[in-house]
Amino acid sequence: MGIPATIDLNNLPQHVAIIMDGNGRWAKEKGKLRVFGHQNGVLAVRDTVEGAVELGIPYLTLYAFSTENWNRPKHEVNALMELLVSTITKETKTLMENGVRLNTIGDLNSLPKSCDRQLREAMEKTKDNKRCTLTLALSYSSRWEITEAVKSIAASVKAGDLNPEEINENLFADRLNTAGLPDPELMIRTSGELRISNFLLWQLAYTELFFTPKLWPDFRRTDLFDAVLDYQKRERRFGMTSEQVK
Ligand code: IPE
Ligand code: IPE
Ligand code: MG
Repeated sequence: MGIPATIDLNNLPQHVAIIMDGNGRWAKEKGKLRVFGHQNGVLAVRDTVEGAVELGIPYLTLYAFSTENWNRPKHEVNALMELLVSTITKETKTLMENGVRLNTIGDLNSLPKSCDRQLREAMEKTKDNKRCTLTLALSYSSRWEITEAVKSIAASVKAGDLNPEEINENLFADRLNTAGLPDPELMIRTSGELRISNFLLWQLAYTELFFTPKLWPDFRRTDLFDAVLDYQKRERRFGMTSEQVK
């Protein structure tokens, strides 16, 4: 198999972000509990990460748990947290083999202590890997992130370290959890839902969006390749005319 010859390796999105959705429906279709869907979603994560590395995409961001997901039944939240810890422990080896650096965005302090510890350990172990930065959005929501950025800027102004005149888009972006990451050029959402669900609202300003009805546990690297091919057919105009960007 491998990479389709039709993919232009000189026109790859540098950053792909994915809303991994549909685990619960996938399990329900099979007459199983929702947690079974989450467990099978791990396989999709591994294959997608390997696909991104194979293609040469340097930044991959996965929405794994939103601030709003805390409102789910307690047993589902607990199962997701346990799955997170066991997956990180098991997958660190694969990350090392593939040259993947683990990174996170979101409110890590709100996660159970064991999750927080495993994550920090995995980030430390993988910190020198150069092929791909895998960012997991955990206990993340964009409005939370933007609010935190505003608080941080206000604190700098109050302390006399920042003049309000100096506030611009770059300074603001540097106060977000995603500081240092380029904006995503392609955002994929699985499961057929056509919404953003509080994900990277600032960063997605000019991102190409790709929606697929596939449920997350069925997603594989070939689906990532399909999304990249679709992305490469688009003309990104950034407000200009077609003639200008040609
Ligand atoms: C995505 O699948 C995983 C998380 C949000 C944690 P869902 O659990 O949202 O599955 P559906 O959307 O209910 O099918
Ligand atoms: C978005 O999926 C969050 C993650 C994939 C982690 P949800 O299933 O929580 O989103 P809604 O509720 O359908 O918008
Ligand atoms: Mg969902």
